[in-house]
Formats: sequence, structure tokens, C-alpha cells
Amino acid sequence: MSNVYSITDHIKEDAANSITAIILAAGEGKRMYSKTPKVLHKVCGTPLVQHVVNCAREIGCVKPVVVVGHGAEQVMEAIEGVSFAIQAQQLGTGHAVMQAEGYITDGDVLVLYGDTPLPKAETLLKMYEVHKQNNYGATVLTADFEDPTGYGRIIRSSENLIESIIEERDASPEIKEIKEVNSGIYFFKGADLKRVLSRLSNNNDQGEYYLTDVIGLFRQDGLKIAPYKTNDTDEIMGVNNKLQLSQANEIMRRRIVTKHMLKGVTIIDPSNTYIENTVQIERDVTIYPGCILEGSTYIGEDSIIGPQTRIKDCNIGNGVKIQYSVAFESSIGEATTVGPYAYLRPGNKIGKHAKIGDFVEMKNSNFGDYSKASHLTYVGDGDVGNNVNLGCGVVFVNYDGKKKNRTVIEDNSFVGCNVNLIAPVTVKESSYVAAGTTITKEVPKASLAIGRVKQDNKEGWAKKFK
Ligand code: UD1
Ligand code: CA
Repeated sequence: MSNVYSITDHIKEDAANSITAIILAAGEGKRMYSKTPKVLHKVCGTPLVQHVVNCAREIGCVKPVVVVGHGAEQVMEAIEGVSFAIQAQQLGTGHAVMQAEGYITDGDVLVLYGDTPLPKAETLLKMYEVHKQNNYGATVLTADFEDPTGYGRIIRSSENLIESIIEERDASPEIKEIKEVNSGIYFFKGADLKRVLSRLSNNNDQGEYYLTDVIGLFRQDGLKIAPYKTNDTDEIMGVNNKLQLSQANEIMRRRIVTKHMLKGVTIIDPSNTYIENTVQIERDVTIYPGCILEGSTYIGEDSIIGPQTRIKDCNIGNGVKIQYSVAFESSIGEATTVGPYAYLRPGNKIGKHAKIGDFVEMKNSNFGDYSKASHLTYVGDGDVGNNVNLGCGVVFVNYDGKKKNRTVIEDNSFVGCNVNLIAPVTVKESSYVAAGTTITKEVPKASLAIGRVKQDNKEGWAKKFK
């Protein structure tokens, strides 16, 4: 091991040891017009506030503090592994931080917003590095906005530090001209923040306790406050309505597909591929257009997914091919093919080198290695062994009107076309079921079951009929 650390390594270590992240998430989000608390709306499958928690964790804050208020119970239920501070009444961003005062140490405090889901850990670490190296009392993430309406404006001092932050509604026309805005993301020296919090007042247009007023108090105490400007305005984009939610979703979607491509996944049409940030994909996977990959899905090496495929909470082995299909909560073994137009409902465990062909529906079933259901088949509550062939139009009649029953087809059996298997029933190993048969009782090992009306040919009948 080398003893030479880059500054970034030091900073990472330092960040992990000394930063307390406080995430403000008590606001109501009226403009979402929704029953769901704002910060629980999802971007690429993950609630807004969870993205922020993940970001804090990425820079080493193992247990961020989330300030909750509106919909507190729901929010507390939805996110795990954090501490909570309750803000019963939303009296402003400064007041929100006061509620988390008990968590503030002599280290540094990072303030983030639960509705600003796109900061990058990398940016925050660079910002932290500047904050530490210059011994600033506070460092504020800022950006130049074409249209800064609604944001707090950054008033710079002659030394290019921050003199104050003025809210839009408290701003004069000249100040409204300023394009540099406050993102609401800050690093503070913890001990100083704690000291001045009680000095915040609500003497402003909104009658709120503004966190931005900490700047003035820090200056009074001789501390330096610096801006850290980012060019990537996406990072500080807030989500206040469903339009912004879709914009944030698009930015995050891009980031996710980019991440996978840079790690060796071939994505044929990145603008038409939807991958939640919880999905894991190995290298040399190819994803054709129109795929939606969700939840805890894992996709093994060399698999080919799509076109037009939705996969949620599935574990997919290496070299699997799935096209034009939908799969939920199922596992699929190596080199198996699925689709086109297959529907895997929850609870399937499909083996290796199997084939689930077109218009096959399967649920809550085991399906062995090298087994095939090539077309138009329903496998419900089945236990299908290895090397079994199900012909076209086989139906597992699993529901008797009251409960679901299982069908067992043992290894090396062959079920012909258009067979109904009335469950519960078993076809023992190495047996054959003739096409058109309705199976109602066990088929013994290595036998043939045939149950259909014998064909009767009436010769010359057609001529007489005419
Ligand atoms: C705040 C900043 C403004 C900045 C903008 C960036 C202040 C006074 N102003 O304004 O300078 O440009 O963010 O988006 O800080 N929250 C609580 N409890 C409260 C109030 C707010 O938890 O009592 C949370 C909200 O849920 C939200 C965040 O704090 O996540 C920001 O609140 P918001 O009301 O949107 O702040 P702005 O007025 O937009
Ligand atoms: Ca806002």
C-alpha cells in the first residue's frame, strides 16, 4: 500500500468523518397537486428525498438527518437508515435547520433540500475541498440562471466573497437583475452555525426564519462566506411541480444510461431506454430500444434485452435473451430465451437453456433446465422438471373456482399440443401426454396418457350432404 494520498482521498476521508448532512424536507409541495408528499415523488423509480440521501451517503455521511413535517409519517416510513427531526410548523429554512440542532457537531454541516434531487457527490466533494482549504465559515453552491425568478440572489463582496443572500420577495429591482442564485446547498462550520441559529429572526416579508440570514450573522462574527459556482444548473434544479418532476426524471435517466454505457453496457438507443437507478447490469449486455428496467433487477453478462421489454425485480442470468416481453419478480437462468410476447408474472424460477416462447404466460412456477414452452401456453402454479417439452396450447388448469392447485410435470416428459392439465395433478418422469388430452389423474412413470374421442371417418358423406 502506498502512503501517498491525493487531496481528494484526504477530503473524502475528512468528509466521511466530519460532515453532518441535514436534508430539509418538511415543505408541502402544493404545486404538485398530489396526495403524496412532494419529496416522495419518484425520479427514475426512487423518491426525490432518497436521491438526496444517497448523494449524502456517497460523500460519506452515513446517517443523514432528514427534517420532516408535511406528510412526516409517510416520509419516515419510506426512507431508511437516516435520523429524523420533526418540524411541526414550517416556519422557514432556518427554522427547519434549528429542529436538527441536536445533531450538529463541531464538524461541518452540509445542508441539502429533499426536493433538489440532482446534486452530484463529485461536485459536493470539490466544494467541500474549497470550503476546508480556505477555512470558510460557510460555502454556498451557486449558479448563474438565465431566469433567476423566485431564487435568492447572491450579493458578492469586493473580495468576491458573499455579502448576503436576498430573497426575491425582499429584493429591489436592481438586485432582481442579479443572475447568480442561491441553490440552497451549503457547507457550514457546525459550531458557528449552532451558535447563530438562535439569533435568526423572522423579520422579513414572509415572516419566516431564513437560513440565508446566517450569512449576515457569520459576517458579523468575522467569518468568511464564499460562493462555489457550478456550471451544471441541472445539479441545483428544484422540483416543485410535475413538469419539473419530468425534467428531473429525464436528467437522471440520462445519467443512469450514461453510467451503464461507460461500464460496458451496449445501449442501442439511449434516448429510448428507461433504467431505474436500483438496477444492476453487467458488461456486454445489449439493450435494444424501448426497454424499461425497474426495481431490484439484475442482468448478467452477455444478455440481450429488448426491444420493447419491461423487467421489474428480476434476476437474469448470463446470456439470456428476452424480447417484446414483460417479466416481474422472476429469476431466469443462463442462456434461456424469452419471448417475443411472453408474460412472466411474479414468482417464477426458470432454469438454464430453457425456452419460453411467444404468447406464453407463466406465474408462480418452477421451470427446469432445457425445458421448453415454445408457444401459446399457460403455466400457472406449475413445477416443471428438466428437459420437459410443452406443446402448443398447453393449459395448466390451476384454479378450481376456490383455490389454486399445482401441476407437476417431472423430468424428460413430453406434453403434446392442446392439453389441459386439471390440477392438482402429476405427470411422472419420462412420460408422454397425447395431443388434445385432458389430464385429470396422475400419469405413471414412462407411460403414454391419451384421452380423446376416437376419430370416425364417414366416407362419401360430403357428396351426399351437398
Ligand atoms: C430557498 C432559499 C433561496 C434559494 C432557494 C433555492 C431561503 C430563505 N431561501 O428558497 O435563497 O434560492 O431555496 O431553491 O432559504 N423547508 C422546510 N421547512 C420550512 C421551509 C422549507 O423543510 O419551514 C424545505 C422545503 O421542503 C424545501 C426546502 O426547504 O425542500 C426549500 O424551501 P423553499 O420554501 O422551497 O425555499 P425557497 O423559498 O424556494
Ligand atoms: Ca423552492
